[in-house]
Amino acid sequence: MAQFSSTFLDEVLSRTDLAEIIARHVELKPSGANLTGLCPFHHEKTPSFSVSVDKQMYYCFGCGKGGNAYRFLMEHDGYPFPEAVEFLAQKAGMPIPDSKPVNPKEAARKKYGLELLDKVAGIFSRTLNSDEGNHARDYFAKRKLSPELIQKYQLGYAPAGYGFMKRCFGDDAKTLKSLEAIGVLIQNERGFADRFRERVMFPIRDKQGRVVGFGGRILGDGEPKYLNSPETEFYHKSHLLYGYSEHRESVRKHQMLVVVEGYMDVLAMASYNLDYAVAPLGTAITESQLRIILRLYENPVFCFDGDRAGRGAAWRSIERMLPILKAEHSPKFLYLPDGEDPDTLLQKEGKEAFEHRLNNDARPMLETWIKGLKNIAGDGAEGRARMAKKADVMLSTMEDDYLRQAWQSEVEKETGVALSMQKRPQFSPSPRQSFTPKRQTSLSVTPMKDDGFMAGLLQKPKRFHDLPEDAFHFFVDTHPIHPIYTRAFSLVGDNENTELDIAAQLMREFPDNQNIARWVNLPTVGDDEFQLLLIDMHMAYLNNLLGHSDGLAVKMRINGELKALKNQQKQLLK
Ligand code: CTP
Ligand code: MN
Repeated sequence: MAQFSSTFLDEVLSRTDLAEIIARHVELKPSGANLTGLCPFHHEKTPSFSVSVDKQMYYCFGCGKGGNAYRFLMEHDGYPFPEAVEFLAQKAGMPIPDSKPVNPKEAARKKYGLELLDKVAGIFSRTLNSDEGNHARDYFAKRKLSPELIQKYQLGYAPAGYGFMKRCFGDDAKTLKSLEAIGVLIQNERGFADRFRERVMFPIRDKQGRVVGFGGRILGDGEPKYLNSPETEFYHKSHLLYGYSEHRESVRKHQMLVVVEGYMDVLAMASYNLDYAVAPLGTAITESQLRIILRLYENPVFCFDGDRAGRGAAWRSIERMLPILKAEHSPKFLYLPDGEDPDTLLQKEGKEAFEHRLNNDARPMLETWIKGLKNIAGDGAEGRARMAKKADVMLSTMEDDYLRQAWQSEVEKETGVALSMQKRPQFSPSPRQSFTPKRQTSLSVTPMKDDGFMAGLLQKPKRFHDLPEDAFHFFVDTHPIHPIYTRAFSLVGDNENTELDIAAQLMREFPDNQNIARWVNLPTVGDDEFQLLLIDMHMAYLNNLLGHSDGLAVKMRINGELKALKNQQKQLLK
C-alpha cells in the first residue's frame, strides 16, 4: 500500500474544496463564516452540520462527527484511506507518488530512533542485572516479580546521576540530540541530562511490539512516584496501553481482558499467569485507548478501586465509552475493596480469590451506569427526573441506535419517565444557538470557557503568541484537552513566523479527536470575547493553584494576580 508523505497529503488537501465534496450529498447554505446544512450522518430536521471554508473541516453539532476531506470520504462514502487520497489527488490533478517510502531520509531517521529506543531498553535491562542493579533487583523481589518475569517484560534499571546515557553512548552531539528526541535525555542550561534516574524501568511498546517509551518507578518513596516518557514522535501516551503487545495473543487465547490502573497491576497479574491485563499510562483512559481495547476483545473487565476516586474514574470511562460502544460489546466493571489494587489483592488473597472476583463480582456496564446515575440524581420524583435528564444527555452520545434504544428503555423502566429520542450535542451550544448568525458579538454567550478558548485559539492561531506564561498549564495533565493543547503549543513554538495551520496539523495527529473540527466550526470567537475567555481560564487556573499552595507570600502573589485580572475583566465588560 502506498505510503503518502505528509507534504503530499497536505498538498492534496490544499487543492481540495471540501464544500464541493460535501455538496454532492448535502445542500449547504452560508451562515456566518461557515456553511451549514442537514447532517448526512444522522437524521435531523434543523441543520446542525457545519463546514468551515476557512479551515476546510466539517463538524456536526448534533452527532459529533467531524474531520477533513479524507475523513468525510472514509466515513460517509466508505473509502479506505488510500483510496480517499487517490480520489482527491486525481480530482486535484496530482499524480500519485510511487509506493516506495516517499521520504527516505525521514524513514531512516525514524528507524534510527526506534533502534535507539530498543538499545536503551537493552541497556536498562542489563544494568538491572549488573552489580549496579542490586537494590533494584531487591525491590522487584520484594514486589514478588520473578527473574523470568523481569526478563520477559524486559524490566530494567536506570541508575542514579545525570550522565548515564552519556556513559553508554558517548557525547557526540548528534547522538545526544537523538536521545533527547526519543525522550531519555533532557536539555537544560548545563547541557544534556538523564531524564530517568534511580528508577526501575518499564519499557512501553507499540502495537508492533517496538519499544516507544518508558515508565520509571522510584525505588521506595519519593516524588514523582512514576515518571513517564514525554510525548515524542514515537510515544503518544493517550494512544498506547501498557501490556498490549505483550498480551495481545494471550487475550485472544484466554478470551479475557482486564483493564487495570498501573504497570505493577499488569505485572502482578502476569506473575500469577493472568497474562491478559493492560493499563493506560498514568492518565485517565482515553477514547482512543478504549477503541483499542474494544477492538482487541469485546468483553473486557475494567478494574477500579472501590473508593470515591475509583468510582469517579469508572464514571469517566463510561462517559468516554458510550460513543463507541456497540451492541456486540459487553464490558464489565469490577470494584475492588477500598484502597486495594490487583497487585495488593493478589498478594493478600492469592490467585483463586482474585479470579473469583473477576468472574463473579464484575457487573455489566449498563448496571454500573444506572447505579452511577442513581447516585448522582438522588431520591424521590425529582431524583428520577434528574436521572432521566442526565441519562438522556448521555444516551444522545451513543452511536449504536439499537443499543441506545435498549438502554433507553431500561432507564424509562427505572424512572417511569419517557425519554426523548433526539440525539443532541454533547458539550456544544444547542444547534439553534450556534447557528443563529450573531448580529453583534455578545460577550456572554460562550457556553463553556474551555471550548470557547480552544475555538478562539484554533480559529486564530496567532493568539497563541500573546498568551501569558501561565497559559501552558491551563489544562492539567489528565484533562482530555491537555495532549492537544500542549501539542498545539509546540507546533506554534516551532513555527513562529510561518502560517502553519495548527488545526489541520492537529487533525492529522489526532485523527480520532472530533473536537478539533468542532472548535474550528464554532461561531467565530471575536477578539474581545477571546480576551474574556482568556481571563476566565487564567482565573480558574490561579484559583486552582491557590487551593493547592500554602505559604502566605505565594498566596498573596496569586491573590494580587487574580485582582488584576478581575479589573481587566471589568474594563472589558464595559
Ligand atoms: N502514575 C503516574 N504518575 C504518578 C503516579 C501514578 O503515571 N506520579 C500512574 C502509573 O501508571 C501508576 C498508576 O498511575 O501505575 C497508578 O498509580 P498508583 O495507584 O499511585 O500506583 P500503583 O500502580 O499502585 O503503584 P505501586 O503499586 O508501584 O505503588
Ligand atoms: Mn499498587
